[in-house]
Amino acid sequence: MSSRDGQQGETAPQLRIPTHVAIIMDGNGRWAQARGLPRLAGHRAGTENLRRIIEACVEFGIRYLTIYAFSTENWARPRDEVEGLMSIMEEVIDKEVPELHRQGVQIRHIGALEGVRPELQRKIREAIELTRHNQRLVLVVAFNYGGRAEIVHAVRQILAAGLKPEEVTEAIFAQYLYTAGIPDPDLVIRTSGEQRISNFLLWQTAYSEWYFTPVYWPDFDKAELRKALEAYSRRERRFGRVSAVDMSAAPRDG
Ligand code: FPP
Repeated sequence: MSSRDGQQGETAPQLRIPTHVAIIMDGNGRWAQARGLPRLAGHRAGTENLRRIIEACVEFGIRYLTIYAFSTENWARPRDEVEGLMSIMEEVIDKEVPELHRQGVQIRHIGALEGVRPELQRKIREAIELTRHNQRLVLVVAFNYGGRAEIVHAVRQILAAGLKPEEVTEAIFAQYLYTAGIPDPDLVIRTSGEQRISNFLLWQTAYSEWYFTPVYWPDFDKAELRKALEAYSRRERRFGRVSAVDMSAAPRDG
């Protein structure tokens, strides 16, 4: 079955499914504010939405989903909000991890655990250990994560390992990042209308496609994800090379 009307099911040939989708889940605060609710209510609604989007990713056949849950800069938010986010994180691990495990989701963490309260550190480590052999979807949680800090961390590890300058290639460098072994994101989505990278996966997004939407994260549902996948499917990824169209138009040698 092939048609060009875009009305087909999830396995329709014209929907190209990226291997790795990364999301900056922005707009929880404004979503709450628009309803006269406290900001933490927005984070709770955002957390509920995350569960739906994980399920949608599994249904679409996406293999890696990275989410920006808490950046190294987020510590500067009001104390109540930071405490609230840490509590939500603990609750989410307790409530959701058994079900994620049942669904075959592997949880990975990128970022630093130093500075995170010990109980939460323990829960994160246990969730990673419990799910480490799951294969259906790899959920990469960027928590206490910063792209520049990650690069500095990698440089320190390389120096500590005693590598010679000529041994440091791009491929070797990538093995020292938190994301070692994870393919680079094909598609990065940022919700809420902001169009910034905000210190997210600076190295890994060198050739990612970006998709920006004004929709606030708690309202970014499966239909919105499908729109992002449709937009991605229409993109031509060139990785710095000449496009296929330009190539066919070019004069031929000989
Ligand atoms: C951005 O909205 C969102 C965050 C800083 C936190 C995202 C966290 C969650 C969705 C819940 C916790 C995550 C996990 C993995 C359990 P914002 O507060 O910057 O919104 P605003 O820009 O409208 O103020």
